[in-house]
Parts: sequence; structure tokens; C-alpha cells
Amino acid sequence: MRGISTIIEDVRALKIFNSRGEETVEVEVETADGLGVASAPSGASRGKWEAIPFPPGGVEESIKKVEELIAPKLVGMDAEDQESIDETLREIDGTENFGNIGGNLAFAISLATAEAAADSHNLNLFQYLGGNLDIELPLPLGNVLGGGKHARGSVPDIQEFLVLPVGARTFEEAAELNVKVHRKIGEILLKKNVGFNGGRGDEGAWAVNLSNREALDVVNQAVEEVSDETGRECRFGLDIAASSIWNEDKGVYVYARDGVERRPQEQLEFVSEVIDKYRLIYVEDPFDEEDFESFTELTKEFRGKVMICGDDLFVTNRERLRRGIELGAANAIIIKVNQIGTLTEAFKTVKEAKKAGYVTVVSHRSGETTDTKIAHLAIGFHSPILKSGVLGGERIAKINEVLRIESVFEGRTKLSSLQIR
Ligand code: PGA
Ligand code: ZN
Repeated sequence: MRGISTIIEDVRALKIFNSRGEETVEVEVETADGLGVASAPSGASRGKWEAIPFPPGGVEESIKKVEELIAPKLVGMDAEDQESIDETLREIDGTENFGNIGGNLAFAISLATAEAAADSHNLNLFQYLGGNLDIELPLPLGNVLGGGKHARGSVPDIQEFLVLPVGARTFEEAAELNVKVHRKIGEILLKKNVGFNGGRGDEGAWAVNLSNREALDVVNQAVEEVSDETGRECRFGLDIAASSIWNEDKGVYVYARDGVERRPQEQLEFVSEVIDKYRLIYVEDPFDEEDFESFTELTKEFRGKVMICGDDLFVTNRERLRRGIELGAANAIIIKVNQIGTLTEAFKTVKEAKKAGYVTVVSHRSGETTDTKIAHLAIGFHSPILKSGVLGGERIAKINEVLRIESVFEGRTKLSSLQIR
């Protein structure tokens, strides 16, 4: 009898589209006994320090590089040897930021390889990455109302208003609570005279002509009502995506919808006041991606109570995270594998974050495909939170994948218990 083979026999890439209709790449990695398929998401509010998504020639150039350079090297390598695969991608690329082959291509190859190895052993990706015992399911952090670069027209400047169902006992209950809050906001908006017609932004969150304060009030009301009606506590938070509203020349954050500009100190006071007033549990990127110092100030003030999360600040990069740890900047980190390019590097960042007591938040991007791998990454990495939206086929695909896992592995899963340090 022949043993299981995890040797790579073929690597193929093709062009597909994401939820915004932008071109992206899907990669298939095949072994004798398994297949991995992964496609790359894309961001709209990308961090300055992220990997370059695609080379200058776009997706076509990435695909050509797979055929001419990458497939010939990877065929014959062992899909289980993730580190060598990822190092080989780095070597072929030869730049710091995947400028030659594209971080999105590196991401898709890296993830498809891991899935091919898992599939060869007849394992789910999450089991292959994180083991079979103690299957911890993440709490879903869901975008319910939004603006900024994820919507068009007159919308709040704050990019995302996010619900976190902290009182849920199962993932199913958690997913249901998020849907209830999303729906409740729709009902509240319909009653208000704000020209609401059900419009939604890139991540399925309501996009509506409200000031930032009005939006905070609406989300707060919905979260309180759903908590009361269900007896399960829901809280909410924000992704301010502050690099998107930072005006470097003037040194201010521009809230165009409100006609307000805030200097960094005023931004710090504003965010602190909003956290207190609305009992926020989560604030992502409240300051520009270069302003570690303000992150430190805010973290000091709310340590142990509120997640102050770095997305554009850290870009899933271990070196940037280390700087954050040294300075006490943030106590949570967004993990988007395509910000850094490979699974190996993202995993190292996750390990470092956990060691330092940071909450890891495995996240979707605003331009997504129906790929469900981030659900597996969140579980496999034992990440307490999965940020993946509430509505929209490409968002719900991830939620449904966790629901499947909760059902198939019934009795062996538990919902993650969130610890904020
Ligand atoms: P993205 O941003 O548009 O770059 O995916 C989403 C986020 O800021 O979390
Ligand atoms: Zn963000």
C-alpha cells in the first residue's frame, strides 16, 4: 500500500473577480492525494506598509509568473513544508513587499498549499493548522453600518460600526444576534426621516446619510434593544480607519460629513469620550498608521476594558507589532494574511501577539470572494475574534463555514472566551 503523498504535482492560477468586481487571483495547488483552492481578497483602505497586492501588470502578470517561474519551482516540493514554500515565494519575488509577484498571489499560493496538505490527510484546514482537540470558535465581529472608503455619497466618516455579541453562548447564537442588530438598525433607519432606502456599502453594512454622532446613537439604540429583547449582551465598536481621514499637510483628522477637523490631541479626546459614552468594547485604527504614540496613550487609558486594535498600524507585520509591544501601543491586532503575504509570516505574528497578550482578530477585507478560509484561520489560530461582516454572500460564506464546523463537531467545540488585557 502506498502512503499519503503531500508532494506538489501542479500549481495553477486564474483570474476571477471579487465582491467589488475587481480582478483578483485564484490558485489551485494539487498533490496526488489532495487539492487546495484559495483566492485573494483586496482592501480599499489599505495600509501604507502592506504588501503590494499585484505587480504593475496586474493579475495577468501574477498569473504569468505562476506559469513561468513559480509552478516549476514548487512542483516536487512538499506541501507540508509550509515554511520552505513560503521562503521560496519570498526568494522568487526578491522584494520586501512582494512587489514582483504580488502579495495577493503569494497569499493565494500559501493558503492553497496549506489546504492541499490538509486535504491530502483528509483534514479540514482548521484541524491541520490548530489541532483537533478543544475546537475554539471565534466570536463574530460584524459590520452593521458604515461609511468612509467603503461607501459612496454622504455617509459617516467613521468606516465601520461593528457589533460584538459578547453574551452569546454558541456561535450560532452569536451569528443570529449580529443579524438581529443589523436588521434592527434597518428598522430604526426606516422610521427616521433620512432618505434611507436600504443602501449598503462594500461589506454589507447599511450606508446612510447620517452624521457620525447620529450613526453612533442609532447603533447604540439597536444594540441595547437587541440585548434587552434577547437577554444576551451585545456591545459595539468602531473601525475609524483613521489613516483614511488623516490630512498630513494640515496635521488634522478630517470629518468631512460633520465639517469638523481634529488635531491628534482632539482626536484622542473625541475617541475617549465616545468609548465612555457608548461603552465601546472595540476601537480599530483610531489614529494614523504612523502615530504609535497616540495608540499608546489611548491603550493606557482603557487597558483591560476595551480592545484598541491596530490594522493599518501593524499590517500583520511582526516587526511593526514588536514596536507596538515595546511602546504599549494597542492591545489587539488585525490579522489579514494578504497584508504580509504568507501563512508562515502571519502565523509568526499571531504567536508573538498572543505571547504579549494581544487579542488577535482574523479579518476579511472589503473586497472579498466566497473563499471561506478565514473561518479556518480564525479557528486554527485559536483567535478569539473573526471579523467578517454580517450580510452579503461573500461575508455570510465565512459565517456559514463556522456554523458547519460547529454542527459537524458538535460536543467538541466551544465559543471562545474573550480576555482583554
Ligand atoms: P480594507 O479595510 O478596505 O483595506 O479591507 C477594511 C478594514 O479597514 O478593516
Ligand atoms: Zn481596519
